[in-house]
Amino acid sequence: MDLNTIERDDIGPAADSAPAPAGTAKKVFVKTYGCQMNVYDSQRMTDALAADGYVATDAIAEADLVLLNTCHIREKAAEKVYSELGRIRDMKAERAAAGRELLIGVAGCVAQAEGAEIIRRSPAVDLVIGPQTYHRLPDVLARVRGGEKIVETDYAVEDKFEHLPQPKRAEVIKRGVTAFLTVQEGCDKFCTFCVVPYTRGSEVSRPVAQIVAEAERLAEAGVREVTLLGQNVNAWHGLGEDGSEWGLGRLLFRLAEIPGLARLRYTTSHPRDMDDELISAHRDLPALMPYLHLPVQSGSDRILKAMNRRHTASDYLALIERIRAARNDIALSGDFIVGFPGETEADFEATMELVRQVNYASAFSFKYSPRPGTPGAEMTDHVPEAVKDERLQRLQALLLKQQQDFGTSLVGRTIGTLIEKPGRQAGQKVGRSPWLQPVIVDEKAGEIGDIIQVRITRTGYNSLFAELA
Ligand code: SAH
Ligand code: SF4
Ligand code: F3S
Repeated sequence: MDLNTIERDDIGPAADSAPAPAGTAKKVFVKTYGCQMNVYDSQRMTDALAADGYVATDAIAEADLVLLNTCHIREKAAEKVYSELGRIRDMKAERAAAGRELLIGVAGCVAQAEGAEIIRRSPAVDLVIGPQTYHRLPDVLARVRGGEKIVETDYAVEDKFEHLPQPKRAEVIKRGVTAFLTVQEGCDKFCTFCVVPYTRGSEVSRPVAQIVAEAERLAEAGVREVTLLGQNVNAWHGLGEDGSEWGLGRLLFRLAEIPGLARLRYTTSHPRDMDDELISAHRDLPALMPYLHLPVQSGSDRILKAMNRRHTASDYLALIERIRAARNDIALSGDFIVGFPGETEADFEATMELVRQVNYASAFSFKYSPRPGTPGAEMTDHVPEAVKDERLQRLQALLLKQQQDFGTSLVGRTIGTLIEKPGRQAGQKVGRSPWLQPVIVDEKAGEIGDIIQVRITRTGYNSLFAELA
């Protein structure tokens, strides 16, 4: 599965759970849009609702509560929510005719950005809850069941992570041997195209002890690989167990000490927050996987400035050089925006040139989408849609070629693979490479949770085929 895809609407339920005892328990269906942090948040909301008596279901028809965990990053992402709400509204009406209730909740970044406007546009919605108040979900639901409509989008003063229940061990086991763990949330960078500082609030780091305790719980339940999450994950900092200020590099070393945790990753990082300690971790910490998602957005200094990225293309290239000097087999991934206001053909060509120089193992590229309330949307020199389309096509062709070349370069090599789940075809299991590619192996090659050495035999479209080395 593609871990970085934004606007993903095929994630389905955040988690499924044991069947309800004799049809008594209330059921919740959660649909997740957007980034990995939403996937994590959906799990935490499911955990909070489980403590409140709700059982998760992946059949929307059975649900007493439908919760959409939404994404506001691009217009398309936000609009999907309203078309989905239209469908659910019809379901709710049918239910009401049959005398059964269906509650509809909207969470996530659209909830935070649009608040009460959502209920105005979609009156069937019962509750709107922003990312900073998920721990209040059970209370909010109690009031909703009492007939109120609720919009809860303030920035809570209490620490939501202190109040969100941890998942039961059985639930962690069901979710698999890889897990997300949010360590940092929010953003103070205010890139001029981006809604995240408005939807997630300002940068907050979770305390070391909280993170370690959560990682230990995951490891005890059999999780082998943890991906630390944050909108600016490498801006994470905290007071360490030794009384000194830690950065993400130091935290990674600490987490690597937890028995059972064999692999660590972090995403998404900002080029300005890659410090020496974090770069050294890539050299000195075997558990840290040699894969780094480091968005640059554009290769043109003029556009980078207009985007308020506060780094130049050559800053970025110099940084990549330092990272590669620390760990030469590191694979890079990035995010790109084409057609930012004022982008000329020469600016776009500078992006193509940067991509050629870096040589990415994977990447995500998007057409610029003006977002309400951001400075970018106020700019006047918008690029015509057809030009954006054409540039995106050229960029994606280059990125796809690089991704395929990277896969091909692995053929014949022996690599570590974490066995994750049964394959789609009988007789196969699917593992995960250090560089996040799915690795298809014979089912007898290892048990789920094993990290085995395999030789890559050939590449698939988005995956690798391998045999036991
Ligand atoms: N926190 C992450 C970004 C999250 S958004 C970071 O700082 O890297 C993921 C990606 O969506 C961004 O890197 C950017 O490439 C893209 N994106 C954000 N806003 C966008 C917009 N208005 N139009 C098009 N793409 C956008
Ligand atoms: Fe958005 Fe920029 Fe913050 Fe990333 S660093 S979340 S792109 S404002
Ligand atoms: Fe989307 Fe919010 Fe994530 S806008 S990308 S769900 S932080």
